[in-house]
Amino acid sequence: MTQIIAALSLKGGVGKTSVVLGLAGAAAERGLRVLVVDLDPQANSTASLDPHHTPFTSSDVLFDARPGIASEAIVSSGWDSQIQLLPSERALEHRATPDGPDSSQRLKRALTGVTEAFDLVLIDCPPSLGELTRNALYAATDALVVTEPSFFAVNGAEQALEAVSIVSTHGNPQLRPIGIVANRVRPTLPEHNYRMDELRSAFGDLVLGGLPDRAAIQQAQGACVPVQQWTSNGAADINNALGRLLDELRPTIETADLRQASARPALVTTSTNEGPRS
Ligand SMILES: Nc1ncnc2c1ncn2[C@@H]1O[C@H](COP(=O)(O)OP(=O)(O)O)[C@@H](O)[C@H]1O
Ligand SMILES: [Mg+2]
Repeated sequence: MTQIIAALSLKGGVGKTSVVLGLAGAAAERGLRVLVVDLDPQANSTASLDPHHTPFTSSDVLFDARPGIASEAIVSSGWDSQIQLLPSERALEHRATPDGPDSSQRLKRALTGVTEAFDLVLIDCPPSLGELTRNALYAATDALVVTEPSFFAVNGAEQALEAVSIVSTHGNPQLRPIGIVANRVRPTLPEHNYRMDELRSAFGDLVLGGLPDRAAIQQAQGACVPVQQWTSNGAADINNALGRLLDELRPTIETADLRQASARPALVTTSTNEGPRS
């Protein structure tokens, strides 16, 4: 069964889109066929993946919701033929309110028979735990909670995990919380280390290796290229961390072996030439 990871958080601006794009680039580099489903009306991952044309979008797909209809909206990204995209548009906002008893299952239905063509599906959720994110959770096998090392992190992750647990109890038993990833970590800041400890004591092993704060993420997104193609010390740091995160998320024997060999990887690496930005 294809692994379908929904990246979610209560808040905007924590890095859901960046994690989805970063993982998509890392997975494509390893030869995996990736589908990115943009389920945010802000359509940030659509903009950065830079498709040539988008005749239909996730808004049309959720409106129609016939089994398999998503295939008509999926297009190649401008990055790499390994990465396909179910694009979004602002009109998706109209699908953000529940509409009938099964409205949370529309995406799942629309993706029937479609996800099998991919090795990894990544769903970029909007910044809320409402109807669109519920659609993502019904369609997903794994829920990845994205957060920042801040005062609100524990509370925000708790609420996201609660939303995951509700969906896995009521209708999608295959869904599991795969982990919590802290983004924009600056290990030189005592505040960030304190918040990371707080997350680990609240959620234990569910807390995955974090992603460092590196300008390369913004630069690559702005240039509509994978951060894996960006060359700077900061890009190398973030790409190493993304590779390790992908290892933690992929349920392969190879990954299991890696885990045993190296225990949990270091949280973040820092480079000598590009320190955390102030
Ligand atoms: N690790 C990072 N280092 C530096 N900037 C980042 C990082 N992650 C995200 N950003 C930037 O932070 C902003 C918000 O990230 P984004 O992924 O769009 O969050 P979300 O999808 O949760 O709203 C974007 O401008 C993005 O480029
Ligand atoms: Mg986003």
